[in-house]
Amino acid sequence: MTEVLEKQWPGLDRFPVRKLMPQDRFEPIATEIYALKKQLNAVILAHNYQVGEIQDVADYVGDSLGLAQQAAKTNADVIVFCGVHFMAETAKILNPNKIVVLPDKDAGCSLEESCPADKLAELQATNPNFWTIAYINCSAAVKALCDVIVTSGNAEQIVRAAPLDKDLLFVPDENLGEWVIEQTGRPMTLWRGNCYAHAEFRRDAVLKLREKFPQAKVVVHPEALREVREAADAVCSTEKMITYCQTSPATQFVIVTESGIIHRMQKECPGKEFICTPTFDVMRLPGDNCRCSECKYMKLNTLEKVRDCMKKLAPRIELPDDILRRARLPIERMLEISARPN
Ligand code: 13P
Ligand code: SF4
Repeated sequence: MTEVLEKQWPGLDRFPVRKLMPQDRFEPIATEIYALKKQLNAVILAHNYQVGEIQDVADYVGDSLGLAQQAAKTNADVIVFCGVHFMAETAKILNPNKIVVLPDKDAGCSLEESCPADKLAELQATNPNFWTIAYINCSAAVKALCDVIVTSGNAEQIVRAAPLDKDLLFVPDENLGEWVIEQTGRPMTLWRGNCYAHAEFRRDAVLKLREKFPQAKVVVHPEALREVREAADAVCSTEKMITYCQTSPATQFVIVTESGIIHRMQKECPGKEFICTPTFDVMRLPGDNCRCSECKYMKLNTLEKVRDCMKKLAPRIELPDDILRRARLPIERMLEISARPN
């Protein structure tokens, strides 16, 4: 079990240190969770940004695409979704007859908030030739208005497969959308939303880390700003980041995404070192406290809340029938295109 114990950042000389937590702190709760899992025939799905102790009790830990694929094929009766609301909704849309619980009902997302369904419908009405591509980080009501869903792991593949006679509208992440335009050369109208956590990374901080760790590879999530993506060795989804770090001959990596991912990287890439990028400009704010990126929504979930939501089978995801039905089609389309050879 790990925890970030050191959060001081007086210049670039000290880095967040993740130390082993005493195993027994979480063991009693983990034991209760395993018993509940058996009793409920539940599956625990966790996103790469969840705290380490949640990742350690999960049946599957991965990115948004992997989690949707797992949800699509599970035989469990109950899905315990350790991530944020839109992810649990996606699992419910794929499993309308199963119980889906989320440890904290307030685990939202700034991207989801940026794109209300009524405002999207207004924009769509301005061009009947729009083909709407939605990043999975949006509400079920928005998914119900879209033609296809993408994740950061398959956005490029899905945009390449989009009908050529359509005008593409990409919602709600302008940074991911901009990156996909760069990769595919396909013009798209972009919704002006962003991930509040990734938008805080700055190029100067990444360049300073490059100076300090010249051997390190810089790995950036596509939700980051272009100035940061341009300073990267690799731009990819959280799952692809882990594969990149596993397969790269490099032994040091500067990681530009939510710091929860370091837990898996340390477990799955033994002997390699991971440096979290601070989310403020170290050139302009010397001496400020480190703010290594944490998504405040992802971090609402705790191991205790995982146990409690299994005991109470609440908070539970419930959606109107017509939203369930209409939102399923673009998700299934995504899963089908993702399964094609790339
Ligand atoms: P992925 O894990 O799919 O790359 O997405 C990152 C994210 O921000 C999820 O909210
Ligand atoms: Fe949303 Fe950003 Fe948090 Fe992901 S990291 S859930 S995109 S706010």
